[in-house]
Amino acid sequence: MKILVTGGAGFIGANFVRTTVEEKPDVEVVVLDKLTYAGNAASLAGLDRVTLIEGDIADADTVDPLVRDTDLVVHFAAESHNDNSLNDPSPFITTNIVGTFTLLEAVRRHGVRFHHISTDEVYGDLELDDPAKFTPSTPYMPSSPYSSSKAASDHLVRAWVRSFGVEATLSNCSNNYGPYQHIEKFIPRTVTNLIDGVKPRLYGAGLNVRDWIHVRDHNTAVWAIIERGTIGETYLIGADGEKNNLEVVQMILEEFGYDRDDFVHVNDRPGHDLRYAIDNTTLLELGWEPEFKDFKSGLADTIAWYRSNEDWWRPQKAEVEAKYAKTGQ
Ligand code: NAD
Ligand code: DAU
Repeated sequence: MKILVTGGAGFIGANFVRTTVEEKPDVEVVVLDKLTYAGNAASLAGLDRVTLIEGDIADADTVDPLVRDTDLVVHFAAESHNDNSLNDPSPFITTNIVGTFTLLEAVRRHGVRFHHISTDEVYGDLELDDPAKFTPSTPYMPSSPYSSSKAASDHLVRAWVRSFGVEATLSNCSNNYGPYQHIEKFIPRTVTNLIDGVKPRLYGAGLNVRDWIHVRDHNTAVWAIIERGTIGETYLIGADGEKNNLEVVQMILEEFGYDRDDFVHVNDRPGHDLRYAIDNTTLLELGWEPEFKDFKSGLADTIAWYRSNEDWWRPQKAEVEAKYAKTGQ
Protein backbone atom coordinates (compact mmCIF):
# COMPACT_ATOMS: atom_id res chain seq x y z
CA MET A 1 0.00 0.00 0.00
CA LYS A 2 1.22 3.51 -0.86
CA ILE A 3 0.15 6.49 1.25
CA LEU A 4 0.61 10.22 0.76
CA VAL A 5 1.09 12.09 4.05
CA THR A 6 0.77 15.87 3.76
CA GLY A 7 2.60 17.83 6.45
CA GLY A 8 4.66 14.74 7.29
CA ALA A 9 7.68 16.85 8.33
CA GLY A 10 5.65 18.61 11.04
CA PHE A 11 5.07 17.48 14.62
CA ILE A 12 2.13 15.07 14.38
CA GLY A 13 2.77 14.10 10.74
CA ALA A 14 6.40 13.09 11.44
CA ASN A 15 5.32 11.02 14.43
CA PHE A 16 2.63 9.42 12.21
CA VAL A 17 5.21 8.54 9.54
CA ARG A 18 7.56 7.09 12.19
CA THR A 19 4.82 4.93 13.76
CA THR A 20 3.65 3.79 10.32
CA VAL A 21 7.11 2.76 9.13
CA GLU A 22 7.75 0.90 12.41
CA GLU A 23 4.43 -0.92 12.57
CA LYS A 24 3.23 -1.39 8.98
CA PRO A 25 5.92 -3.13 6.92
CA ASP A 26 3.69 -3.25 3.81
CA VAL A 27 3.19 0.54 3.66
CA GLU A 28 5.31 2.87 1.53
CA VAL A 29 5.11 6.57 2.49
CA VAL A 30 5.40 9.68 0.35
CA VAL A 31 5.50 12.91 2.36
CA LEU A 32 4.39 16.16 0.71
CA ASP A 33 5.56 19.09 2.84
CA LYS A 34 6.32 22.74 2.07
CA LEU A 35 9.00 22.74 4.81
CA THR A 36 7.75 25.99 6.30
CA TYR A 37 9.30 27.25 9.56
CA ALA A 38 7.33 24.37 11.22
CA GLY A 39 8.53 21.57 8.94
CA ASN A 40 11.86 19.85 9.53
CA ALA A 41 13.31 17.14 7.31
CA ALA A 42 15.43 16.03 10.29
CA SER A 43 12.24 14.76 11.96
CA LEU A 44 12.17 12.01 9.29
CA ALA A 45 15.89 11.18 9.40
CA GLY A 46 16.91 7.54 9.27
CA LEU A 47 13.57 6.16 8.03
CA ASP A 48 13.29 3.54 5.28
CA ARG A 49 10.35 3.44 2.83
CA VAL A 50 9.81 7.23 3.08
CA THR A 51 10.20 9.75 0.23
CA LEU A 52 10.03 13.44 1.10
CA ILE A 53 8.74 15.78 -1.61
CA GLU A 54 9.09 19.48 -0.89
CA GLY A 55 5.97 21.21 -2.24
CA ASP A 56 2.79 23.14 -1.52
CA ILE A 57 -0.60 21.44 -1.01
CA ALA A 58 -2.21 24.51 -2.58
CA ASP A 59 -0.38 23.90 -5.87
CA ALA A 60 -2.60 21.66 -8.06
CA ASP A 61 0.26 20.77 -10.45
CA THR A 62 2.32 19.39 -7.56
CA VAL A 63 -0.59 17.66 -5.85
CA ASP A 64 -2.28 15.96 -8.83
CA PRO A 65 0.39 13.39 -9.85
CA LEU A 66 1.14 12.52 -6.22
CA VAL A 67 -2.52 11.85 -5.48
CA ARG A 68 -2.95 9.89 -8.74
CA ASP A 69 -0.15 7.54 -7.65
CA THR A 70 -1.33 6.79 -4.11
CA ASP A 71 -3.92 4.57 -2.40
CA LEU A 72 -4.66 6.93 0.51
CA VAL A 73 -4.07 10.57 1.48
CA VAL A 74 -3.63 11.40 5.17
CA HIS A 75 -3.87 15.18 5.37
CA PHE A 76 -1.96 16.78 8.29
CA ALA A 77 -0.47 19.82 6.50
CA ALA A 78 -1.61 23.11 8.01
CA GLU A 79 -0.59 26.37 9.53
CA SER A 80 -1.18 25.21 13.11
CA HIS A 81 -0.40 27.95 15.63
CA ASN A 82 -3.11 30.23 17.05
CA ASP A 83 -0.71 33.01 18.08
CA ASN A 84 0.71 33.22 14.53
CA SER A 85 -2.81 33.38 13.10
CA LEU A 86 -3.49 36.43 15.27
CA ASN A 87 -0.36 38.17 13.92
CA ASP A 88 -0.96 37.26 10.24
CA PRO A 89 -3.99 35.17 9.18
CA SER A 90 -3.19 35.06 5.47
CA PRO A 91 -1.14 31.79 5.21
CA PHE A 92 -3.86 30.09 7.27
CA ILE A 93 -6.39 30.86 4.54
CA THR A 94 -4.14 29.69 1.72
CA THR A 95 -2.84 26.49 3.29
CA ASN A 96 -5.73 25.36 5.46
CA ILE A 97 -8.59 26.26 3.12
CA VAL A 98 -7.21 26.48 -0.45
CA GLY A 99 -4.75 23.63 0.28
CA THR A 100 -7.52 21.32 1.50
CA PHE A 101 -9.68 22.30 -1.50
CA THR A 102 -6.80 21.46 -3.87
CA LEU A 103 -6.32 18.01 -2.29
CA LEU A 104 -10.07 17.31 -2.37
CA GLU A 105 -10.27 18.11 -6.07
CA ALA A 106 -7.37 15.71 -6.71
CA VAL A 107 -8.86 12.83 -4.68
CA ARG A 108 -12.18 13.45 -6.46
CA ARG A 109 -10.51 13.22 -9.90
CA HIS A 110 -8.59 10.06 -9.04
CA GLY A 111 -11.03 8.27 -6.68
CA VAL A 112 -8.53 8.14 -3.79
CA ARG A 113 -9.43 7.56 -0.10
CA PHE A 114 -8.86 10.66 2.09
CA HIS A 115 -8.46 11.17 5.83
CA HIS A 116 -8.67 14.75 7.09
CA ILE A 117 -6.89 15.72 10.32
CA SER A 118 -8.59 18.51 12.23
CA THR A 119 -8.87 20.06 15.66
CA ASP A 120 -11.33 20.26 18.55
CA GLU A 121 -10.96 24.06 18.33
CA VAL A 122 -13.58 24.14 15.55
CA TYR A 123 -16.20 23.80 18.33
CA GLY A 124 -15.06 26.97 20.13
CA ASP A 125 -14.74 26.62 23.89
CA LEU A 126 -16.57 25.36 26.98
CA GLU A 127 -17.10 27.11 30.32
CA LEU A 128 -14.69 26.08 33.09
CA ASP A 129 -17.53 24.91 35.35
CA ASP A 130 -19.57 23.16 32.60
CA PRO A 131 -19.49 19.33 32.78
CA ALA A 132 -20.17 19.16 29.00
CA LYS A 133 -17.62 17.86 26.48
CA PHE A 134 -17.40 18.25 22.70
CA THR A 135 -19.17 15.54 20.66
CA PRO A 136 -19.33 15.10 16.87
CA SER A 137 -22.67 16.96 16.86
CA THR A 138 -21.49 20.04 18.83
CA PRO A 139 -22.16 23.16 16.69
CA TYR A 140 -19.15 24.81 15.05
CA MET A 141 -18.14 28.08 16.80
CA PRO A 142 -14.43 28.72 16.08
CA SER A 143 -12.73 31.66 17.82
CA SER A 144 -9.42 32.36 16.03
CA PRO A 145 -8.27 32.75 12.42
CA TYR A 146 -6.56 29.34 12.84
CA SER A 147 -9.61 27.50 14.16
CA SER A 148 -11.98 29.16 11.70
CA SER A 149 -9.74 28.15 8.78
CA LYS A 150 -9.73 24.54 10.07
CA ALA A 151 -13.54 24.71 10.45
CA ALA A 152 -13.78 25.84 6.81
CA SER A 153 -11.61 22.90 5.74
CA ASP A 154 -13.86 20.45 7.64
CA HIS A 155 -16.92 21.84 5.86
CA LEU A 156 -15.23 21.41 2.49
CA VAL A 157 -14.44 17.75 3.23
CA ARG A 158 -18.05 17.01 4.26
CA ALA A 159 -19.40 18.77 1.17
CA TRP A 160 -17.07 16.76 -1.12
CA VAL A 161 -18.30 13.54 0.54
CA ARG A 162 -21.96 14.43 0.12
CA SER A 163 -21.91 16.14 -3.28
CA PHE A 164 -19.18 14.19 -5.08
CA GLY A 165 -19.05 10.88 -3.21
CA VAL A 166 -15.44 11.38 -2.12
CA GLU A 167 -14.43 8.60 0.30
CA ALA A 168 -13.28 10.59 3.31
CA THR A 169 -13.22 10.36 7.09
CA LEU A 170 -12.48 13.23 9.49
CA SER A 171 -10.94 13.43 12.95
CA ASN A 172 -10.86 16.35 15.40
CA CYS A 173 -8.25 15.94 18.11
CA SER A 174 -7.40 17.79 21.31
CA ASN A 175 -3.96 19.20 22.29
CA ASN A 176 -1.06 16.87 21.49
CA TYR A 177 2.27 16.61 23.30
CA GLY A 178 5.36 14.51 22.65
CA PRO A 179 8.64 14.52 20.66
CA TYR A 180 9.26 16.72 17.58
CA GLN A 181 6.73 19.41 18.58
CA HIS A 182 7.75 22.91 17.47
CA ILE A 183 9.07 25.00 20.36
CA GLU A 184 6.56 27.81 19.74
CA LYS A 185 3.94 25.55 21.42
CA PHE A 186 3.23 25.67 25.16
CA ILE A 187 4.87 22.50 26.52
CA PRO A 188 8.08 22.54 24.40
CA ARG A 189 8.40 26.32 24.87
CA THR A 190 8.17 25.91 28.65
CA VAL A 191 10.62 22.97 28.66
CA THR A 192 13.22 24.68 26.43
CA ASN A 193 12.91 27.91 28.45
CA LEU A 194 13.73 25.95 31.60
CA ILE A 195 16.67 24.23 29.89
CA ASP A 196 17.90 27.77 29.15
CA GLY A 197 17.28 28.94 32.74
CA VAL A 198 14.36 31.19 31.66
CA LYS A 199 11.11 31.26 33.65
CA PRO A 200 8.01 29.76 31.94
CA ARG A 201 5.46 32.22 30.53
CA LEU A 202 1.84 31.70 31.56
CA TYR A 203 -0.81 33.53 29.51
CA GLY A 204 -3.25 35.45 31.73
CA ALA A 205 -4.21 33.68 34.96
CA GLY A 206 -3.35 30.25 33.50
CA LEU A 207 -6.78 28.77 34.22
CA ASN A 208 -7.52 27.80 30.60
CA VAL A 209 -8.00 24.04 30.26
CA ARG A 210 -6.63 21.85 27.48
CA ASP A 211 -7.37 18.11 27.02
CA TRP A 212 -3.85 16.67 26.57
CA ILE A 213 -3.18 13.54 24.51
CA HIS A 214 0.16 11.96 23.62
CA VAL A 215 0.91 12.28 19.90
CA ARG A 216 1.35 8.51 19.58
CA ASP A 217 -2.21 7.97 20.84
CA HIS A 218 -3.51 10.53 18.31
CA ASN A 219 -1.82 8.60 15.53
CA THR A 220 -2.98 5.12 16.57
CA ALA A 221 -6.49 6.59 16.61
CA VAL A 222 -6.00 7.93 13.07
CA TRP A 223 -5.05 4.44 11.86
CA ALA A 224 -8.08 2.95 13.68
CA ILE A 225 -10.34 5.41 11.82
CA ILE A 226 -8.66 4.75 8.46
CA GLU A 227 -8.99 0.98 8.91
CA ARG A 228 -12.33 0.68 10.72
CA GLY A 229 -14.11 4.06 10.45
CA THR A 230 -17.25 4.78 8.41
CA ILE A 231 -16.90 6.96 5.30
CA GLY A 232 -18.31 10.45 5.87
CA GLU A 233 -18.06 10.19 9.68
CA THR A 234 -16.27 12.54 12.04
CA TYR A 235 -14.43 11.03 15.03
CA LEU A 236 -13.30 13.04 18.04
CA ILE A 237 -9.89 12.01 19.36
CA GLY A 238 -9.07 12.59 23.03
CA ALA A 239 -7.84 10.63 26.03
CA ASP A 240 -9.46 12.28 29.08
CA GLY A 241 -6.45 14.50 29.75
CA GLU A 242 -7.95 17.78 31.00
CA LYS A 243 -5.49 20.03 32.86
CA ASN A 244 -5.28 23.79 33.24
CA ASN A 245 -2.16 25.61 32.05
CA LEU A 246 -1.10 26.47 35.59
CA GLU A 247 -1.13 22.77 36.55
CA VAL A 248 0.95 21.89 33.46
CA VAL A 249 3.57 24.57 34.16
CA GLN A 250 3.81 23.44 37.78
CA MET A 251 4.23 19.77 36.77
CA ILE A 252 7.05 20.75 34.42
CA LEU A 253 8.71 22.92 37.10
CA GLU A 254 8.53 20.00 39.54
CA GLU A 255 10.05 17.63 36.98
CA PHE A 256 12.99 20.06 36.67
CA GLY A 257 13.26 20.24 40.48
CA TYR A 258 12.31 23.95 40.62
CA ASP A 259 9.89 25.78 42.88
CA ARG A 260 6.24 25.40 41.71
CA ASP A 261 5.84 29.21 41.61
CA ASP A 262 8.90 29.91 39.50
CA PHE A 263 6.99 31.22 36.44
CA VAL A 264 5.78 34.63 35.20
CA HIS A 265 2.34 35.76 34.07
CA VAL A 266 2.41 37.43 30.63
CA ASN A 267 -0.16 39.06 28.33
CA ASP A 268 -3.16 36.87 27.61
CA ARG A 269 -3.99 35.66 24.08
CA PRO A 270 -6.77 37.79 22.51
CA GLY A 271 -9.97 35.71 22.28
CA HIS A 272 -8.27 32.93 24.34
CA ASP A 273 -10.49 29.81 24.41
CA LEU A 274 -11.28 28.79 27.99
CA ARG A 275 -11.64 25.03 27.91
CA TYR A 276 -11.58 22.11 25.48
CA ALA A 277 -12.80 18.62 26.42
CA ILE A 278 -13.41 15.59 24.20
CA ASP A 279 -16.13 12.94 24.42
CA ASN A 280 -14.35 10.06 22.64
CA THR A 281 -17.25 7.54 22.74
CA THR A 282 -17.42 6.88 18.97
CA LEU A 283 -13.67 6.34 18.82
CA LEU A 284 -13.75 3.81 21.67
CA GLU A 285 -16.45 1.97 19.70
CA LEU A 286 -13.81 1.33 17.00
CA GLY A 287 -11.80 -0.62 19.60
CA TRP A 288 -9.12 2.08 20.09
CA GLU A 289 -7.63 2.81 23.45
CA PRO A 290 -4.83 5.16 24.53
CA GLU A 291 -1.44 3.82 25.58
CA PHE A 292 -0.33 6.95 27.52
CA LYS A 293 -2.81 7.10 30.40
CA ASP A 294 -0.41 8.81 32.84
CA PHE A 295 0.26 12.42 31.77
CA LYS A 296 3.07 12.84 34.35
CA SER A 297 5.15 10.02 32.87
CA GLY A 298 4.38 11.03 29.25
CA LEU A 299 5.51 14.56 30.17
CA ALA A 300 8.71 13.23 31.80
CA ASP A 301 9.52 11.28 28.57
CA THR A 302 8.86 14.42 26.52
CA ILE A 303 11.12 16.56 28.72
CA ALA A 304 13.85 13.90 28.41
CA TRP A 305 13.46 14.00 24.60
CA TYR A 306 14.00 17.80 24.48
CA ARG A 307 16.99 17.49 26.81
CA SER A 308 18.58 14.88 24.50
CA ASN A 309 17.70 16.54 21.20
CA GLU A 310 18.91 20.09 21.58
CA ASP A 311 20.40 19.99 18.04
CA TRP A 312 16.86 19.58 16.71
CA TRP A 313 15.33 22.65 18.44
CA ARG A 314 18.19 25.01 19.27
CA PRO A 315 18.42 26.72 15.82
CA GLN A 316 14.86 28.08 16.24
CA LYS A 317 14.86 29.15 19.89
CA ALA A 318 16.09 32.76 19.58
CA GLU A 319 13.71 33.56 16.69
CA VAL A 320 10.69 32.09 18.50
CA GLU A 321 11.39 34.08 21.67
CA ALA A 322 12.01 37.29 19.67
CA LYS A 323 8.56 36.85 18.08
CA TYR A 324 6.89 36.38 21.47
CA ALA A 325 8.72 39.41 22.89
CA LYS A 326 6.88 41.62 20.37
CA THR A 327 3.49 40.73 21.91
CA GLY A 328 4.72 40.80 25.50
CA GLN A 329 4.38 37.02 25.81
P1 NAD B 1 2.95 21.61 12.58
O1 NAD B 1 2.83 23.09 12.45
O2 NAD B 1 3.95 21.05 13.53
O3 NAD B 1 3.25 20.97 11.15
C1 NAD B 1 2.59 21.38 9.99
C2 NAD B 1 3.36 20.83 8.81
O4 NAD B 1 2.66 21.23 7.60
C3 NAD B 1 4.79 21.38 8.67
O5 NAD B 1 5.68 20.33 8.36
C4 NAD B 1 4.69 22.36 7.53
O6 NAD B 1 5.91 22.52 6.81
C5 NAD B 1 3.60 21.74 6.67
N1 NAD B 1 2.93 22.71 5.80
C6 NAD B 1 2.45 23.94 6.15
N2 NAD B 1 1.92 24.55 5.06
C7 NAD B 1 2.03 23.68 4.03
C8 NAD B 1 1.66 23.72 2.66
N3 NAD B 1 1.04 24.80 2.13
N4 NAD B 1 1.93 22.66 1.88
C9 NAD B 1 2.56 21.57 2.39
N5 NAD B 1 2.94 21.47 3.67
C10 NAD B 1 2.68 22.51 4.49
O7 NAD B 1 1.49 21.11 12.92
P2 NAD B 1 1.01 19.88 13.84
O8 NAD B 1 0.90 20.35 15.23
O9 NAD B 1 1.80 18.68 13.50
O10 NAD B 1 -0.49 19.70 13.29
C11 NAD B 1 -0.76 18.82 12.20
C12 NAD B 1 -2.25 18.78 11.94
O11 NAD B 1 -2.94 18.37 13.12
C13 NAD B 1 -2.84 20.15 11.58
O12 NAD B 1 -3.82 19.94 10.59
C14 NAD B 1 -3.48 20.64 12.88
O13 NAD B 1 -4.57 21.48 12.61
C15 NAD B 1 -3.94 19.32 13.47
N6 NAD B 1 -4.04 19.27 14.94
C16 NAD B 1 -2.98 19.63 15.73
C17 NAD B 1 -3.08 19.48 17.11
C18 NAD B 1 -1.93 19.82 18.04
O14 NAD B 1 -2.07 19.76 19.25
N7 NAD B 1 -0.75 20.16 17.53
C19 NAD B 1 -4.27 18.99 17.68
C20 NAD B 1 -5.35 18.66 16.84
C21 NAD B 1 -5.21 18.79 15.47
O1 DAU C 1 -6.81 21.85 20.69
C1 DAU C 1 -6.01 21.48 19.61
C2 DAU C 1 -5.06 22.60 19.24
O2 DAU C 1 -4.04 22.60 20.24
C3 DAU C 1 -4.46 22.44 17.85
O3 DAU C 1 -5.48 22.55 16.89
C4 DAU C 1 -3.39 23.50 17.59
O4 DAU C 1 -2.76 23.25 16.35
C5 DAU C 1 -2.36 23.43 18.70
O5 DAU C 1 -1.39 24.46 18.53
C6 DAU C 1 -3.03 23.56 20.07
O6 DAU C 1 -3.59 24.90 20.23
P1 DAU C 1 -3.43 25.75 21.57
O7 DAU C 1 -3.58 27.17 21.21
O8 DAU C 1 -4.26 25.18 22.65
O9 DAU C 1 -1.87 25.37 21.90
P2 DAU C 1 -0.64 26.23 22.46
O10 DAU C 1 0.46 25.25 22.69
O11 DAU C 1 -0.35 27.41 21.63
O12 DAU C 1 -1.18 26.75 23.87
C7 DAU C 1 -1.69 25.85 24.86
C8 DAU C 1 -2.22 26.69 26.01
O13 DAU C 1 -1.11 27.30 26.70
C9 DAU C 1 -3.09 27.86 25.59
O14 DAU C 1 -4.12 28.03 26.55
C10 DAU C 1 -2.15 29.07 25.59
C11 DAU C 1 -1.19 28.73 26.71
N1 DAU C 1 0.21 29.23 26.61
C12 DAU C 1 0.88 29.04 25.43
C13 DAU C 1 2.21 29.41 25.32
C14 DAU C 1 2.98 29.22 24.03
C15 DAU C 1 0.84 29.78 27.73
O15 DAU C 1 0.22 29.94 28.80
N2 DAU C 1 2.15 30.12 27.62
C16 DAU C 1 2.88 29.97 26.47
O16 DAU C 1 4.10 30.28 26.46
